[in-house]
Amino acid sequence: MINPASIAEVMSRTDIVDVVGQFVRLKKRGTNYIANCPFHNEKSPSFNVSPAKGIYKCFGCGKAGNAVSFIQEHEKLSYPEAMRWLADYYKITLQETERSPEQQLQQQAGEALRILNEYAANYFHETLLNTEEGQIIGMSYFRQRGFRKDIIERFRLGYNPEHNEAFYQASVAKGHSKELLEKAGLIKNRNGIYYDVYRGRVIFPIQSMTGRILGFGARILKSNEKAPKYINSPENELYVKSKVLYGMFQSRTAIGKLDECFLVEGYTDVISLHQGGVENVVSSSGTSLTEDQLRLIGQLTKNLTILYDGDAAGIKAALRGLDMALGQSFNVQLVLLPDGEDPDSYIQKQGASGFHEYVKGHKQDVISFRLQIGLKDAGNDPIKKSKLVNEIAESISRINKAEDFALQNHYIREASDKLKVDETGMVTLVNKYIRDRIENDQKHQQRREEAMPDPAEMEMPVEEPQVAKPGTGEENEWGLLKVLVEFGHLAYDETRTISAVIEEQVDPALFENQLVGKLYNEYYDHRTHFGNVPETHYFVNYPDKDIRERLISVLSTERNKTESDMSANWKTKYGIESNSDKLHYINDLDSTLAYFEYKKIMMMQEDLLVRLQLEQDPLKLQRIQMKYLELRKMDKEILKHHPAVFRLMKHK
Ligand code: UTP
Ligand code: MN
Repeated sequence: MINPASIAEVMSRTDIVDVVGQFVRLKKRGTNYIANCPFHNEKSPSFNVSPAKGIYKCFGCGKAGNAVSFIQEHEKLSYPEAMRWLADYYKITLQETERSPEQQLQQQAGEALRILNEYAANYFHETLLNTEEGQIIGMSYFRQRGFRKDIIERFRLGYNPEHNEAFYQASVAKGHSKELLEKAGLIKNRNGIYYDVYRGRVIFPIQSMTGRILGFGARILKSNEKAPKYINSPENELYVKSKVLYGMFQSRTAIGKLDECFLVEGYTDVISLHQGGVENVVSSSGTSLTEDQLRLIGQLTKNLTILYDGDAAGIKAALRGLDMALGQSFNVQLVLLPDGEDPDSYIQKQGASGFHEYVKGHKQDVISFRLQIGLKDAGNDPIKKSKLVNEIAESISRINKAEDFALQNHYIREASDKLKVDETGMVTLVNKYIRDRIENDQKHQQRREEAMPDPAEMEMPVEEPQVAKPGTGEENEWGLLKVLVEFGHLAYDETRTISAVIEEQVDPALFENQLVGKLYNEYYDHRTHFGNVPETHYFVNYPDKDIRERLISVLSTERNKTESDMSANWKTKYGIESNSDKLHYINDLDSTLAYFEYKKIMMMQEDLLVRLQLEQDPLKLQRIQMKYLELRKMDKEILKHHPAVFRLMKHK
């Protein structure tokens, strides 16, 4: 158990902006900070951090909490582990009382791999620096590659002795189990005899964004052998290749500050660039880039520059990452290095300024890059060329945000020019790809709706009789009015009141109930005339008897059960007591707003579908299609986070 006084000390030192800022690029807005949410995919920020309250909340996915829960969620840690993380970060020594033997065992099982990796990294590093063999073999190798001592230390490079079982013996003597050593990929068993997997290799520890050792890459020193050049850790609980970028720990600050990330192929490229002063660089370590890795980068910057060898394999690898990055709205640029060079060799020869100059002169956007490579490859072959035209059109069609419309047209012009095809033809082709996606998407949606059980058949938990079900549109409209009347004058966030948010987000034209519409207008008229919103008694004493009675009955209904349960969870989960009432009405409001948002989007979609049928002009058609796709994404997001809205729409 961690001593309560220690917990209090950690909490008093903890600054939520500082902690969240370690992982997410925060922008100041008013007294709060906002960012793209690290817990779900999104393109515009709905993740809020309030330094005053010490909490974060995502209005997209609903995740919320304080600094400890952020670390727990983001780093997948238990509460005590998150506490230790924070204590470590703020250099506070935790006072821990004795744990029971069972507790010790349990914790050991969970943390053993982590502890072992840390131990191994230290062992390899010490061996490199402080043993004769480490110096003569490992250090000579690094020296010959031009790596400085400070860089070797920053990346915690190491060496595993040649002797078959040097590391194995040392770790077992330290109490690490064979099973775990094997699981971590550090030793292997051949006919009952254990030996070191990395013997005679130099070691590159692979670290998480926060510096934890997740695994290793081990490079062979002799060049003649059939053995693989690098042996990497096998995947396990800690090391998930697709979610790790080598160098992220050392580079993340520079990536955020410079608002750009270089992506290279290898361990040594990252290290050499750092040594040369280029510190905003990570590597996907020989595998092609994954969606998860892109998301990791996307939390820090949307400007990605891919640096690859100019050889065929390098180009292929680069191409794979591109469409994905485009789809995630990255601004991607590509730089191909001269034949036979990698970033490591290039910066060692030309220095940082030579490197930057080369990058500046050879940056290409994705489409130009595809065009250049494709045209060279196609030559005069008409079949290859027609294939290329299609590929380029498909690539361009992926830029499907309405704001990027100008960019898309720029590419269409450039591509038709270079491919010598008619521009209108190119537009039509791009449209076809967008349309294909719309159709695909609709089929998907249909299948999903069919798979969704009818709400009437869904087993609903027995509810107490006075509780209102998430009901019809009309109920939502009265619900909105209730929030307005009761809480409209209160703060929603640091800068806006509830009534301001509702005014911003709700289109009163969507109301089905005329009376709600009338009262809604009266509410805001009152503000226009008197400068402040009407108080509750204005409505409770409403002159018209029927309206008054309706209002009073609405105001006295209980809060929707599911929503208030959610708030209660919030409360117990994050221990936020004093705010609980506020959380209630904010939660109420959020799901009501989601309903109106969804309704608006659905109407816009219907409108666009009609226009799609009628539009003749291919450019306008394209614009409508893009807008439509974007709306589809939005409604899916809403349904994902507010399933009640879906039930509600099905009822209608
Ligand atoms: P490279 O062969 O380009 O290696 O592979 P490198 O990093 O430039 O190393 P040096 O400069 O020759 O010493 C690029 C990356 O591919 C992965 C490694 O992550 C490497 O850094 N790789 C390569 C492997 O995982 N296994 C291999 O056998 C080879
Ligand atoms: Mn290299």
